[in-house]
Amino acid sequence: MNEIEITRRGEIAVVMVDNPPVNALSQAMRAALLSAADALDRDDAVKAVVLACAGRTFIAGADVREFDLPPLEPHLPDVIARIENAEKPWIAAIHGTALGGGFEVAMGCRFRIALESAAVGLPEVTLGIIPGAGGTCRTPRLAGVETAVKLAVGGRPLGARKALEAGLIDAIVEGDLVAEAVAFAEKALQQPLPAKTSARPIAAIDEAFWSEAEKDKAKPGYRAPLAALSSIRFATENPFDAAMLNERGLFLELRASDEAAALRHVFFAERSAARPAALKTVEPRPLKSIGIVGGGTMGTGIGAAALMAGYPLTLIERDEAAVARGLSAIEAVLAGAVRRGKLTAAKQAFLLEGLAGTTDYQALSACDLVIEAVFEEIAVKRAVFAELDRVCRADAVLATNTSYLDPRRIAEGLSHPERFIGLHFFSPAHVMKLLEIIPVPETADDVLATGFQLARALGKIPVTSGICEGFIGNRILKRYRAEAEQLVRRGVAIAEIDGAMRDYGFKMGPFETQDLSGLDIAYLQREGARSEGQDVPETLGDILVRAGRKGQKTGGGWYDYREGERKPVVSSEVAALLQPRIEASDALDRTAIADHLIAAMADEGRAILAEGIAAKPEDIDLVKIHGYGFPRHRGGPMFAS
Ligand code: 3HC
Ligand code: NAI
Repeated sequence: MNEIEITRRGEIAVVMVDNPPVNALSQAMRAALLSAADALDRDDAVKAVVLACAGRTFIAGADVREFDLPPLEPHLPDVIARIENAEKPWIAAIHGTALGGGFEVAMGCRFRIALESAAVGLPEVTLGIIPGAGGTCRTPRLAGVETAVKLAVGGRPLGARKALEAGLIDAIVEGDLVAEAVAFAEKALQQPLPAKTSARPIAAIDEAFWSEAEKDKAKPGYRAPLAALSSIRFATENPFDAAMLNERGLFLELRASDEAAALRHVFFAERSAARPAALKTVEPRPLKSIGIVGGGTMGTGIGAAALMAGYPLTLIERDEAAVARGLSAIEAVLAGAVRRGKLTAAKQAFLLEGLAGTTDYQALSACDLVIEAVFEEIAVKRAVFAELDRVCRADAVLATNTSYLDPRRIAEGLSHPERFIGLHFFSPAHVMKLLEIIPVPETADDVLATGFQLARALGKIPVTSGICEGFIGNRILKRYRAEAEQLVRRGVAIAEIDGAMRDYGFKMGPFETQDLSGLDIAYLQREGARSEGQDVPETLGDILVRAGRKGQKTGGGWYDYREGERKPVVSSEVAALLQPRIEASDALDRTAIADHLIAAMADEGRAILAEGIAAKPEDIDLVKIHGYGFPRHRGGPMFAS
């Protein structure tokens, strides 16, 4: 494969990079760029060089797949130094996203121009590393320390307009990018050239800035953000060459860290989940309008997500009062998005025009997809689907958001079962990224593909799950909780178990989480199964619920709560209630507790894989990270154990 092609437009050479899909800087590409710089310096007819890319984007960064191997020559900092020190000025012509090593290459060029739609950034921290080819050394020289911190420590890209204002790029152009870059180069040659980026001074910054930034950017469990900050600080206080060596040292250290390996694993898992190989050639059904039945917690969250993604939405509820409640809950989510600057008032008004609510199922007759989110009772759900069968088009996709019921039982009696599917969202549905997609045996491939298309449109991470109690996520959650209770029976303190999981990286431990969401729902489910004659052993949670301790909402669950406070307080009442069930006095330290619980999750995960409920371990990791707060920097339970 030819990674780059060099052509000539008069005295300007155009170096066209072509390394699909995102022009990542593989070893071959680095070598090709280096020899291009050498060759063009030798060519007296060339006065300037335009660096542009074929395909959907400018260079999107280093080739992350190479990070599992030792670094290979030529190293990127040397390639960029060669471009920066070339005898002819290089001009980066940016479209798509110039990210990480891609933007570092652009900063090594003498000029950067971009299309309005382009963005530039240094997202390395999201992969557990820092920029390793001058990002923390050149950005403060180009655009000041504050912009460098925003870019390299925050990790979020900046759109071309903001990048221009910040001084990261020199111009925004319209139309044919390469032609514009050639014209820019011809003009630039008429004037004295600006200094190379590495030779520019860095504007002084207040000492207090650093301590503020250190406080602000610290992220427990993640080393990369503070390492990026320290690298920028070093670069402002030391000569360029020393700063480059310092940056490279930190980069290589972090590149080999467990944190970076875990984040890379999640990065690739997310990308492969979005487009399953088996559906590559399957065309999804048209998806232009959505209906929701049930305007409670889930229906309104899903509805808000769909509306904000631009789908006109029809909400069905049982009576007018419930319709009004559902609509105002959806409106409140949009209003919140406007308050936080995520949505403009004009867009809000436009989207709300697409929102309708009624008790009349007939309003769903034109919808392409209807998602049911009514009470978790088989008879209620079946009655809803009988109505949908009657009013919806025969090719409309019908979905259930059930958490625990068997979708095959819900679908029984449908006249077109091939258009039925489970779409399991997580609460709050407009925030949580996970979408478990559950086909029944009859589900048609294009219906499954429509589920994935919906996930993409809503910005969700889709994972296919087979059918079992709780699907992938809730089944592992159940095992995790049971195993945590088992530790309590062995004499481990409840607060130590929660503390261990927080130390591991969860925002909350298993018992604190139950207190927040309520112990009664799972209890009622167990009671339901018992009343049907199933043998469901007594849990410690049962004992607490029977004593009236359902969680924060009743003033106590696994912990006590002071009036109006959410801080858990260790409870002597709980200790007394559970005392008869404590069988030992095992002393486990926090690391051992966390290891034990993660191993239990992974063990359940392996059973799920063996039964074919999940297709691959990465999918299980994504479920736990995006639906259950598993710390991303640990890579998920399957990766971690
Ligand atoms: N290395 C290797 N492969 C990459 C890659 C990279 N940097 N970035 C994307 N890919 C692959 C994806 O895995 C995917 O592969 P697949 O088709 O086999 O699944 C394919 O490219 C397309 O990726 P997306 O599905 O993400 O495509 P989008 O068009 O949605 O997004 C993008 C494009 C915005 C460029 C997005 O892929 C992205 O954010 N990539 C990562 C950018 C990044 O983090 N760069 C920094 C890398 S670290 C670095 O540069 C270190 C340096 O400082 C030395
Ligand atoms: P909810 O009780 O908040 O809302 C259910 C809504 O459905 C109520 O507003 C009710 O009026 C309405 N409804 C009931 N019967 C109806 C009918 N025949 N026609 C129209 N509307 C009807 O319940 P929630 O929490 O939103 O759960 C809904 C579904 O989502 C359940 O299947 C649940 O298992 C599932 N789920 C719940 C999650 C959660 O965290 N709450 C997470 C994931 C799935």
